[in-house]
Amino acid sequence: MRKSSVLSVLLVLLMLGAMAFVTACGGDTSSKNQDDEKVYVLQAGHSLPENHPYELAFKRMAENVKERTNGRVIIETFPASQIGAERELTEALTFGTVDLVVSSTAPITNFVPDLGVLDLPFLFASREAAVKVLESEIGDSLLAQLGDQGIIGMSWGENGFRHITNSIRPIHSPDDLRGIKIRTQENDIHIAAFEALGAQPTPMAWTEALTAFQQRVVDAQENPAIVADQFNLFEANQKYMSLTGHVYSVAIYMMSQATYDKLPEDLREIVLDEGRKAGPYERELIIEMEKESLNRLRAQGMEILEDIDIEPFRTAIASVYNRYNNQELLNSILEAQ
Ligand code: PAF
Repeated sequence: MRKSSVLSVLLVLLMLGAMAFVTACGGDTSSKNQDDEKVYVLQAGHSLPENHPYELAFKRMAENVKERTNGRVIIETFPASQIGAERELTEALTFGTVDLVVSSTAPITNFVPDLGVLDLPFLFASREAAVKVLESEIGDSLLAQLGDQGIIGMSWGENGFRHITNSIRPIHSPDDLRGIKIRTQENDIHIAAFEALGAQPTPMAWTEALTAFQQRVVDAQENPAIVADQFNLFEANQKYMSLTGHVYSVAIYMMSQATYDKLPEDLREIVLDEGRKAGPYERELIIEMEKESLNRLRAQGMEILEDIDIEPFRTAIASVYNRYNNQELLNSILEAQ
């Protein structure tokens, strides 16, 4: 082969090699682009209606996350127990089959027993005292305990103070509760408290409760005014509401650890950051909405008993405090207020 032909063959081989290199890089780049462009759709579930602050805060979180991730993370919300009641939703977080949940603490206690302290009646002197404790190291360490269950506790929300409604009679004192069948949350402390008050507690998920009121399987329930209003409990035979405010109903915005792990680093931090803001925003919304709900219930004809002397209630449930198994935590909460 002549020297010039050898040179031309070498040149062609070099060019082919260079082309192969460029194609490989191109392949790499496009797969990197595909990853960057991948859209993650997260499911957020809870048990309350579309106009409840639980949902409104999730919606705002969804908007902010969408904007900050340039549409790479989309949060779809499922209110009103569409994808499960609170206990089921919490369990789904542990498996990673639901991504985000806000739930009252009562059913979460079945996964993290220490959280039960928050459901002790008359624990917090006021809403401000509760927020002070929740936003302190005590609250941080309670949220951290969710980690053992594969759940990230993002922020503290609330559902207001719980009051008793019923279809039988006005309830002014524990004596009036005697024999009344009351639906409670699936939580040992709530059950023990209503037993101590002389009522007949029937624990069930909220999804079953409405039918239970309509069919008069139970006579009473206890929930904040906003729940009584938004679920139209007056139409479900609940004629009387006693403003006992026996439990400040704490809620937690949570994310599945499995979801966090599957998101690229930059995206997961944005979701977490917005999740941390959801609770405080929700707490702000509920204060005004609760007042409006009370007015609506009154206008509907529900008899609201305002000046309840809570001391006889407090005395009747005192023994339940002794049954709570982490007295050290309980005392630290009482002292921190
Ligand atoms: O009573 C309950 O189960 C809860 O308070 C509710 C209504 C699901 C809201 O968290």
